[in-house]
Amino acid sequence: MIVRKAVIPAAGYGTRFLPIAKTVPKEMLPLVDRPVIQYVVEEAVASGITDIVLVISRSKRALEEHFHAAPDLESELEAKGKTEELTCLRELCGMARLHFVWQQRMGGLGDAILHARHHVGDEPFAVLLGDTVVTSEDASRPVTRQLADLVEQHGGSAVALQEVPEEKVSRYGILGGEEIAPGVLRARQFVEKPTPEQAPSRLAVSARYVLSPGIFEELERTPPGRGGEIQLTDAMAALLHREPLHGLRFEGRRHDIGNKLDFIKANIHFGLQREDIGPDLRAYLRDLT
Ligand code: G1P
Repeated sequence: MIVRKAVIPAAGYGTRFLPIAKTVPKEMLPLVDRPVIQYVVEEAVASGITDIVLVISRSKRALEEHFHAAPDLESELEAKGKTEELTCLRELCGMARLHFVWQQRMGGLGDAILHARHHVGDEPFAVLLGDTVVTSEDASRPVTRQLADLVEQHGGSAVALQEVPEEKVSRYGILGGEEIAPGVLRARQFVEKPTPEQAPSRLAVSARYVLSPGIFEELERTPPGRGGEIQLTDAMAALLHREPLHGLRFEGRRHDIGNKLDFIKANIHFGLQREDIGPDLRAYLRDLT
């Protein structure tokens, strides 16, 4: 079955990025001149997704407004002949069908996904964490597309994996399994934020998933796990007994914007790639060091 829908959870408080996250959603922080959420939506669209549900909460209204048409601003740009800016705004609103669902209470990633159940229905769907930008080495095949290919080929679900140092396994969902093709693992175990002793490997789930609709049934019966929240990892670990789960080690970078250092690094990464400011930024960085 073709993967054409995506869920982007973007309701979290952003406590690692206070005080700015009190009023500015972390997903709206800019990487050069585009908010993080725009990169995430663009990855989904470049992966063949045509229908996206964003799960938001109080103080996240700016996310909705960012993708909304702005006729007054458009007429202003038109009158002034600013065609480049105008095209940029129009493209933004026409990218995909976007829907917004409110998560009333911070019940965890699993709870956020469950809020999209009605909209997703009975088909496989992608999940892209709204505060993380993932770039793949081959820009024409974003990680979400690669995961969708795996699911369209094998059924079940798939997750993006990156190896992390042992001291960091307790920050991630960790997957254990056997390699069935280069870079592709068939999962046997999946544990949320284990201690290094409990961890089945050092392969961490990295902000991108393509899930079977069977996950909703599991989420319904998943009790609160780590941090008292409904963990997506726990529901996936249960689903693993009924359906295949594959892990894909991907070549590329993960920019977790909820984290201050990664946010600065990501701005440098994307700034250096820009034709307009890249060369000057490079010269500035050289000067600094
Ligand atoms: C979430 C997931 C975790 C995953 C991580 C990065 O954790 O629960 O399994 O490895 O995202 O994708 P969080 O960063 O929200 O604590």
